[in-house]
Amino acid sequence: MQLAIALLSLVSFLSFGLAYHDVSDETLKKLPGPGGDFDIKTGSILAPILVSRVSGTEGNSAVRQHFVDFFKSQLPEWRIELHNSTSTTPVSGGKEVPFVNIIATRDPPGSLPGDVSRLALVAHYDSKLTPKGFIGAIDSAAPCAMILHVARSIDAALTKKWAAASEDDFEVEHKGVQILLLDGEEAFKSWTDADSLYGARALAGDWEATFHAAASIYRTPLDSIDLFLLLDLLGSAGPRVPSYFKTTHWAYQHMATAEDRLRKLGLMKSSPNHAAKMEKRKNKKPRAEPHFLPEGSKKNEAFTGGFVQDDHVPFMARGVEILHIIPTPFPNVWHEITDDGEHLDMDTVEDWTKLVMAFTAEWMELEGFFDFKAEKRKAETEKSEFEIP
Ligand SMILES: *[C@@H]1O[C@H](CO)[C@@H](O)[C@H](O)[C@H]1NC(C)=O
Ligand SMILES: [Zn+2]
Repeated sequence: MQLAIALLSLVSFLSFGLAYHDVSDETLKKLPGPGGDFDIKTGSILAPILVSRVSGTEGNSAVRQHFVDFFKSQLPEWRIELHNSTSTTPVSGGKEVPFVNIIATRDPPGSLPGDVSRLALVAHYDSKLTPKGFIGAIDSAAPCAMILHVARSIDAALTKKWAAASEDDFEVEHKGVQILLLDGEEAFKSWTDADSLYGARALAGDWEATFHAAASIYRTPLDSIDLFLLLDLLGSAGPRVPSYFKTTHWAYQHMATAEDRLRKLGLMKSSPNHAAKMEKRKNKKPRAEPHFLPEGSKKNEAFTGGFVQDDHVPFMARGVEILHIIPTPFPNVWHEITDDGEHLDMDTVEDWTKLVMAFTAEWMELEGFFDFKAEKRKAETEKSEFEIP
C-alpha cells in the first residue's frame, strides 16, 4: 500500500439491517490459538508463505497452491475459485504478467449464491519485487495466515449453526463468509494507479459486471459483500489502527469492544500486563494497557477523509463498505528487507488472530455453536497421525 494519504468523497450506501451478537467471556477464553502452525520455520500455515512470492513467479504460484491445498484438505466445505487476469507492468518489457486471486466462499447450505450477503476477510498474498529477497511477513504473509486460522476455527461452528437453523430463519440462511487472497497488490516500480492493486482492480471490475440470476436479492458479487474487512501490515509490536471510515465506524467499534474484552480477560499475549509477563516483572504494578484499536469513541467530526491506498480502493469506489485494519504509522519494517519471519512479534500476530476470530464469530453469531472439546480431540488425532514417533 501507499504511504500517501488520499482524499475521497465517500458515497455512502444504505446497508442491510445487520445483526451482530457478542460472544460470551467463556467463548472468548476458549478461542483456539494457532499453536505450532504459526511457527516461522515449521508451521504448517505460516512457514510456507514466508518466501518471495512476486506476482507471476514460481514462488507466487507455490504459495497459491499452499492456500488451495489448505482449503481442499482442511476446509472442504468452502468453494474455491481462482480469478485470473493479466497486465503488463512497468518492468515486464511489454509482456503480460498473470495475476491470480483466490476466492474461498462458505455459504449456508442450499442457498443460492445471489441471495447471500457475506463478511469478506481480505489480504494480499503477493510480495514486493524490491528490495531483492524481500519476504513481506507483515506485508501480508501474517495476515493471510491469520485469515486461514480464523476460517479453520469457525468452520465447525458454522456447520452447526446452519444445521440448527429453521427454514424461515432469514438472517441465518443468507449470511456467509468469503475469503479473498488477492494477488498483485504491490507496485513493481513505484506506486501509481496503474502500477499497484492489479488483482483487486481486475476482480472489482469483473464482479461489477457479473450479474446474479434475475430474482436474486443481491445484484452482483460486489453487492453481496456486507463488509470488506482488509488486513494489512499486521504483526509488528505496538500497532495503532485508526478508524478510517465513518460509514463502518460501527463495525470498528464492535472490534474495539471485542479487543477491550479480550484485554480485560487477560487474553492478549502482547499486553505488558499479560500473566506471563507479570510473572517475570519484579514491580508487579500494572502498566498502561495499550490498544490496537484506540478510536472506538471517535466523534463524527473527527473523520477527516484520510485513508491509506490499498486493495479496498477499487471496491470502495464501487460502493462496498470497508473496514481497513492497517496501522498508522506503518511499522518500521515496512518495505524493508527486515520485514521477515524473524521480525514478527508473534504475540501480536496471535492477538490479532484472536481479535479477528472474535469479530468474525460475533458477526456470524456463533455463540453457542463452538465445541472446543471436540475440536481439540480432532486436532490431537490429526497430529498423532502425522507425528513420527
Ligand atoms: C487461472 O490460472 C490458474 C493458474 O495459472 C490456472 O490453473 C487456472 O486454470 C486458471 N483458471 C481459469 C478459469 O482460467
Ligand atoms: Zn507492501
